[in-house]
Amino acid sequence: MIAVINFGGQYCHLIARKIRELGVKAEIFSHTISVQELKKLNPDGIILSGGPASVNQKDAPKMDLKILDLGIPVLGICYGMQLIAKGLNGTVDKGPSKEYGKSIISVKGKDPLLKGLKKEQVWLSHFDTVKKAPKNFVVSSSTKTCSISSMYSPSKKLFGLQFHPEVHHTPNGKKILSNFLKECKAKKDWNLSSAIKGIQKEIKQKTGKEKIIMGVSGGVDSLVASVLIHKTIPGQLFCVFIDNGLMRKNEKTYIESLYKKMKFRHFFSVNASEEFLSALKGVFDPEEKRKIIGHTFIEVFEKKAKELELKHGKISFLGQGTIYPDRIESAEPSKTTSKIKSHHNLTLPEKMSLKLVEPLREFYKDEVRELGKTLKIPQDALQRHPFPGPGLGVRVLGEVSREKLEILREVDFIFIDELKKNNFYSKTWQAFAALFPVKAVGVKGDEREYSFVVALRAVNSVDGMTADWTRIPDKLLEKISSRILNEVNGVSRVLYDISQKPPATIEFE
Ligand code: XMP
Repeated sequence: MIAVINFGGQYCHLIARKIRELGVKAEIFSHTISVQELKKLNPDGIILSGGPASVNQKDAPKMDLKILDLGIPVLGICYGMQLIAKGLNGTVDKGPSKEYGKSIISVKGKDPLLKGLKKEQVWLSHFDTVKKAPKNFVVSSSTKTCSISSMYSPSKKLFGLQFHPEVHHTPNGKKILSNFLKECKAKKDWNLSSAIKGIQKEIKQKTGKEKIIMGVSGGVDSLVASVLIHKTIPGQLFCVFIDNGLMRKNEKTYIESLYKKMKFRHFFSVNASEEFLSALKGVFDPEEKRKIIGHTFIEVFEKKAKELELKHGKISFLGQGTIYPDRIESAEPSKTTSKIKSHHNLTLPEKMSLKLVEPLREFYKDEVRELGKTLKIPQDALQRHPFPGPGLGVRVLGEVSREKLEILREVDFIFIDELKKNNFYSKTWQAFAALFPVKAVGVKGDEREYSFVVALRAVNSVDGMTADWTRIPDKLLEKISSRILNEVNGVSRVLYDISQKPPATIEFE
């Protein structure tokens, strides 16, 4: 295992992903990890990530410098390299100017990480620079403006790169990371089939003969997690799908038939649309709507759990589709981030005193999709766009009603249908429609029409944190708009949202 220590760099996840792609397990830890904790984990190598601070700042994130004496190879990237330099009595200071973007390094000497490389394109993003390498370090490359773009200590196996080997714009970056793994003598035993076997063993050990309940939504994470648990202990898993009346067109049928196709032994769908819609009556505020939907979910879920316990006996575990980035983000909340929206997911354990089973807790989204493929889950189910927990409840802006939901379902269906028919669904990260709480005038036939305004939104994103609007071809937009206006009663205008996130968010509420 390679331990990646996070100093707040935006590419920290990318480092872990690249190491995993090279066949070695990588895990991310906070920079506050102590040398004792790290030693217990027994990593083959340690990578210190980049970060936005300057090592010379008073409040800069630090690390336990004894980590450099463990005899374990350490690679410092950007800020990580500067930390090594400063920690071992080298000098770090501001460079002549900020170096940002592509650059060329000239390699000299025999740095094992840069083996076989001479003049290389790399990607840099830094202000500070190492002015003087620590004693016994060899400088192994430079750029026009940065005289120490890499350095290493042959005796201690400490390496520093001022540039980022983990990004796409360093074409030989993967080779450099692979060279580091060789220095670590790390075994390349991280692959999905071995991972599945490991997870199944863990599920069995943890749950024994006890029962698990799991809320499933049709989303990729809960789907793959439930299939993994089901394949391991089919008779012990009870999946519950709650139809809250805020689902898209045909969603209930789709999810029911998907789970039927996969031969789940205990799959229950609960029709709770009445509970949700009456709780939402007269509510306009988005945050309040989110809270009501979240609470109602818990109530309905608890009721179903009790009913199942009466029939099948005690349920001790709650299965969840938590993935690796979810954990990292919740373990290290940023003091500076303010709450934008209260995201709704099924978080019940505290109240229900259930123990957790989270089979995907070690994986990234694309790995989850790969796992799903290995588990023979239908491809279309694995490639679905994200869908928010509160569903159409946050896409009917303002007060929700059955009539508005019906209109929105039809509009959304046409939009997605056309994207799929025109091979555009997979070209955008997420696409959906929303219904505004205003009406506008139109003319249909010879009649004046006064009806709802709808918006279409499609975005390109990597992780939903930032997003740009998708450039859907004019002709396709025209077709979609014309179908909506002709086929859906109650809509007089179709708008296309061209807001980026930030400052907008992906959903409207
Ligand atoms: P925002 O609107 O915050 O959305 O820019 C970012 C991504 O998160 C999805 N989203 C949610 N997902 N529960 C979820 O599981 C929620 O409450 C929720 N709200 C937003 C949104 O669809 C987008 O993919």
